[in-house]
Amino acid sequence: MKSEIEIKIVITTMPFAMLNEQDQKLLTMATLAINTAYAPYSNYRVGAALQLQNTTIISGSNQENAAYPSGLCAERVAIFSARSQHPNDVIETIAITTEKNSDHPIAPCGSCRQVISEYEIKQQSPIRIILGHIDGMVWISESMENLLPLPFLLDVK
Ligand code: THU
Repeated sequence: MKSEIEIKIVITTMPFAMLNEQDQKLLTMATLAINTAYAPYSNYRVGAALQLQNTTIISGSNQENAAYPSGLCAERVAIFSARSQHPNDVIETIAITTEKNSDHPIAPCGSCRQVISEYEIKQQSPIRIILGHIDGMVWISESMENLLPLPFLLDVK
C-alpha cells in the first residue's frame, strides 16, 4: 500500500527583545563574532556562537580561502572548535547571524545541518538553533532534527 509521510518544521519567532537573557547574550556573541570573519571572496560575513551546558560560549565565523571549497562556514568553525576543546560537554544552543537584518534570517546550509545533527544525535539531547538579528526578528528551532529530519547516518559509535 502506498502512503505519504508528512514532515513538519516548527519555528518560533519573536523580536530579539523578547528572548531570555541567555539567548540574547548568545546572539550578541554571534554578532560580535562577525568581526572575525574572513570573507574577502563572498563579502558575506557570518557569526556563530554556541552555548555549552557548563555555560562556556564558543564562537566562530566564516573563513574563506582562495581555493574556494577549502573555506568553512561560521557554524562549523564554532562547532568543530567546541567539540575539539570540550569533547565531553553537551552543546545546548547555537546562534547564527549576519550583518544584514532581513525578514528571512540566515539558515544553516545543508552541510552545517548535517554536522550539527550528528553531534545532537551523539549527545542524545537537542541543540537549539537561534537564527536572526539583534535589531530584528529571531527564529528559533528547538532542535536540529526539526531542521534536518532525515540526516545521513552511519551506524558507528
Ligand atoms: N556561510 C556561513 O558561514 N554559514 C551559512 O550558514 C551559510 C554560508 C558562509 C560561507 C561563505 O563564506 C559565505 O557565507 C557565502 O556563502
